Amino acid sequence: MLGRDMTNLLGARGEDFTPVTRADLDITDLAAVTELVGAVNPDVVVNCAAWTAVDAAEDHEEAASAVNYQGAANVAAACAKAGALLIHPSTDYVFDGHASTPYAEDAPTAPAGAYGRTKLAGEQAVRGALPDASYIVRTAWLYGAHGKNFVKTMLRLAGNGTSPGVVADQHGQPTWTADVAAQIMALIDRSAPPGIYHATSAGQTTWFGFAEEIFRLYHSSVPEEQIQDQEQKGDSERVLVSPRPITTADYPTPAKRPAYSVLAHDAWHAAGITPIGDWKEALTRAFPALLTK
Ligand SMILES: NC(=O)c1ccc[n+]([C@@H]2O[C@H](COP(=O)([O-])OP(=O)(O)OC[C@H]3O[C@@H](n4cnc5c(N)ncnc54)[C@H](OP(=O)(O)O)[C@@H]3O)[C@@H](O)[C@H]2O)c1
Repeated sequence: MLGRDMTNLLGARGEDFTPVTRADLDITDLAAVTELVGAVNPDVVVNCAAWTAVDAAEDHEEAASAVNYQGAANVAAACAKAGALLIHPSTDYVFDGHASTPYAEDAPTAPAGAYGRTKLAGEQAVRGALPDASYIVRTAWLYGAHGKNFVKTMLRLAGNGTSPGVVADQHGQPTWTADVAAQIMALIDRSAPPGIYHATSAGQTTWFGFAEEIFRLYHSSVPEEQIQDQEQKGDSERVLVSPRPITTADYPTPAKRPAYSVLAHDAWHAAGITPIGDWKEALTRAFPALLTK
């Protein structure tokens, strides 16, 4: 999801870049990573590869770790050898979610589950190998035009006329992958100081609040005639359904979700870079691309 938006942005800017899919390179293979990075000899590597199946990681921590820790370490080692900068996306799941004010970039980490542990180990490997030439870009609640995500699921349900129960007691910052890609470019453009950056939207909401906004935008995007047609067919519920609030306890998952996943954005300000704007405004900008995919 992020990799596709990153390559779209690089393409739109006319940058010289080498997109690499999983079929081209398995990042758990150190020799292959070293060979490819050595051959391309890039100035910058953006490692969008990760094990992102949060629930599956609980039962397959070793496999998740092979990608999120060992794979990250491999990419970092290859960058160190080639003299490349490394940009390494990470996650809000490195925090335990017990806070009530936004997590600073240097707030103590304490992952509550396997995915967060493997991503934190990846962060540490990257920073250990490239203390002066790496950026950890933590993001959260991602959605985008490419790949499965919450917005697409909600759009499918809105289109089906289904009224989903959505968790209303977890707080976070819905974030568009295209905005994360733009922040990554800004780090490179501005030669920002290496370190940890939080690439999430401003503001905060719950999954339920996020779903409500998606349904609202969906309803306002459906042409008036289509609503009238459906109403004439006695079908008005199909268009006008809304999500229902539920609790985390109502929706048990194998991996524990942080109750509070709001990240602070001070490092951007310190680097003279504007952080991502408000989550609702970002969703509105992203919406046409999400509807057409
Ligand atoms: N999605 C979120 O809500 C979220 C939240 C916080 C942080 N993040 C972080 O943001 C980054 C981007 O996430 P995303 O949602 O864009 O991920 P994504 O859509 O799941 O993409 C991950 C990519 O990594 C590839 N991959 C997996 N194992 C690999 C390996 N061994 N070698 C090479 N490629 C491999 C996957 O290939 P296959 O599809 O073939 O498996 C997939 O193309 C990740 O670092 C993630 O941890 C995501």
